[in-house]
Amino acid sequence: MTVGIYFATTTGKTEDIAERIHGLLDGAESPKDMSDVDDLSELSNHDGIICGIPTWNTGADSERSGTAWDTILDEIGELNLTGKKVAIFGLGDSSTYTENYCDAMEELHRYFQQAGATMVGYVSTNDYTFDESKSVVGSTFCGLPLDEDSESDMTDARISQWATQLKGEMPGL
Ligand SMILES: Cc1cc2nc3c(=O)[nH]c(=O)nc-3n(C[C@H](O)[C@H](O)[C@H](O)COP(=O)(O)O)c2cc1C
Repeated sequence: MTVGIYFATTTGKTEDIAERIHGLLDGAESPKDMSDVDDLSELSNHDGIICGIPTWNTGADSERSGTAWDTILDEIGELNLTGKKVAIFGLGDSSTYTENYCDAMEELHRYFQQAGATMVGYVSTNDYTFDESKSVVGSTFCGLPLDEDSESDMTDARISQWATQLKGEMPGL
């Protein structure tokens, strides 16, 4: 069983969190920047995939992250990831961008679902303060939202709780 961690970033925060999550998960491989992945089929080599994505294109319907993820969404949707577990974490700012908090997670979530992956790592909205997020799917976030701009003091607890949750949801961790 292998679990890969993949991220894309503009100012480095999503990479930092990917490293911190990696430190909590013995079974996961070292995080890789999507900009350095030439052949997307490498995703299919894992049994589990953890993906980190920031939101930059505020309010956009598509290409919400402003990173390397945006250019490969269609390709992700065309992979066959049936039987694979995929979890997403997102970076955003719930204070300044409270109407669009971590919107990009939902876009990535949708394309992985299209590829047949089993999505895990959903998180309750209870401990968050924000007005709107496209990443609320049904009654929960479709991944783990993190806010290093306004709530960085909450990050350690959030990622540690999420790591525990993933250990129960993703074989290989
Ligand atoms: C111009 C700009 C637009 C942003 N738009 C959003 C947004 O729509 N929603 C959100 O939650 N965060 C938004 N953010 C906050 C970033 O997502 C946040 O700073 C994140 O940690 C950046 O991650 P990165 O360093 O990995 O690129 C925006 C930040 C800037 C500077």
